[in-house]
Amino acid sequence: MEGNMSTIWKRKIIKYFVFTSALTIPFIYLSHLIVGKYISKKRKELEAELEVDVLKINRCLSLGVESKSKCDCVDVFCSNMQCNIGKLCYILRLVENSNKTLDVCIYFLSANVFGEAILKAHRKGVRVRVIADISNTRNRNSWIFKFLEEGIPVRQKVSDNLMHHKFLIVDNEIVVNGSMNFTLCGAFSNWEMVLVSSQPSLVKQFSNGFQKLWDSFDNHLH
Ligand SMILES: *[C@@H]1O[C@H](CO)[C@@H](O)[C@H](O)[C@H]1NC(C)=O
Ligand SMILES: *[C@@H]1O[C@H](CO)[C@@H](O)[C@H](O)[C@H]1NC(C)=O
Ligand SMILES: *[C@@H]1O[C@H](CO)[C@@H](O)[C@H](O)[C@H]1NC(C)=O
Ligand SMILES: [Zn+2]
Repeated sequence: MEGNMSTIWKRKIIKYFVFTSALTIPFIYLSHLIVGKYISKKRKELEAELEVDVLKINRCLSLGVESKSKCDCVDVFCSNMQCNIGKLCYILRLVENSNKTLDVCIYFLSANVFGEAILKAHRKGVRVRVIADISNTRNRNSWIFKFLEEGIPVRQKVSDNLMHHKFLIVDNEIVVNGSMNFTLCGAFSNWEMVLVSSQPSLVKQFSNGFQKLWDSFDNHLH
């Protein structure tokens, strides 16, 4: 008798669980789906509002002595992002592949690979503007003479303060900012950090900063 009762109860309990889980599992699944969709939609709205890009580019490159051992390349066509030269190439490619505008604001410009990348952009019709420190006019290794010769406008300011920025903006869409001079020596013999980002709010601040300098600086070579 007792044995029968307990098996009946067992069955009842099992039935109950099977029945309720048959309802709750799809319910949980559906609500997950709906809530998940809602959250991802809200997140996208929020990102758009805050101008936090669903990023095309968001990279922090650490160059220099720290990663020297990883680099066994001698040319400037490396695509290994673990390698110093690969990282430099990544930046150079961004510069060369600019399509509309290229705003360069860099303390000192003497690296050939970098000067050439800027010229390449200019020659294919990109509107290039260069801001550099006034010391560039006193150093024959600076690329600014070549830039001026080629018709790229360069602006500087006579001042006791250094124009110490090292950033550039590609197509008003990508900002590259860091400690690097874009002298090869600067790139590989120091510890350097370079941030590459297409986050609109960040890019906008750099473009505004560039424009401010551009308006207040002058061409001291004409
Ligand atoms: C410029 O346009 C080309 C071709 O559409 C594209 O591959 C490249 O990524 C663009 N450059 C940048 C910096 O977005
Ligand atoms: C640009 O990079 C340099 C070097 O890392 C850093 O000191 C500076 O704060 C950065 N500027 C901005 C506005 O992020
Ligand atoms: C940038 O270049 C100048 C001139 O070559 C040099 O004096 C300075 O140390 C360099 N700075 C960095 C961070 O490489
Ligand atoms: Zn390499």
